Amino acid sequence: MDSQQWDLMYSEKELVWSAKPNMFLPPIVATLPVGSALDLASGEGRNAIWLANEGWDVTAVDFSAVGIEKAKRVAGDTEVNWVVADVTTYQPGRTFDLVMIVYVHIDDAGMEALFSYAVDAVTPGGTFIGVGHALRNLTEGVGGPPVPEIHWTEERMSPLVAGLDIVSVGEVLRPVAGSEVEAIDLLVHATKPQ
Ligand SMILES: C[S@@+](CC[C@H](N)C(=O)[O-])C[C@H]1O[C@@H](n2cnc3c(N)ncnc32)[C@H](O)[C@@H]1O
Repeated sequence: MDSQQWDLMYSEKELVWSAKPNMFLPPIVATLPVGSALDLASGEGRNAIWLANEGWDVTAVDFSAVGIEKAKRVAGDTEVNWVVADVTTYQPGRTFDLVMIVYVHIDDAGMEALFSYAVDAVTPGGTFIGVGHALRNLTEGVGGPPVPEIHWTEERMSPLVAGLDIVSVGEVLRPVAGSEVEAIDLLVHATKPQ
């Protein structure tokens, strides 16, 4: 989907995604000292706003101007550095203690462009968290885009985070409201060597 399609989606409903952070973030973030964070493809800002409320200095980037405007409204007095930009070409120009990419499903060229600078943007000793729909979610889970090639697999994701130390990479289950079937995500947790 391009930015206009995302703009349309974000303008149709009040909140497309949940107001709560993705459930896999808080347990990892709880182990980290508060610092700076970069949220790439931040959508309506649920993860960025939650982190900022936890005391983090957050930069959040998305190419949907409508999504970013909505995120600003939801954030209210919570300060986040909101940036409207394409994450396949964005250059942060600095490093962050935490870099996260949550539910970005784009083609291989886009993922390579995104991850090449995202990995560089992790401060030595810092953390990377990635969450995406696992390929198996298409047939055995719920939600996500109907295109197999853009799903996350261990084989697809591991080379993208080469240079980081993998803490864990693998499938995780996520309950979905109103569904008897759980979603199957792929969680990547890695750290940058000192
Ligand atoms: C499924 S939403 C996830 C939003 C957020 N990470 C979350 O977990 O709530 C995917 C987001 O990726 C953004 N996106 C997709 N491709 C992008 C690109 N090339 N540049 C910037 N944002 C992009 C969309 O605008 C959308 O907000």
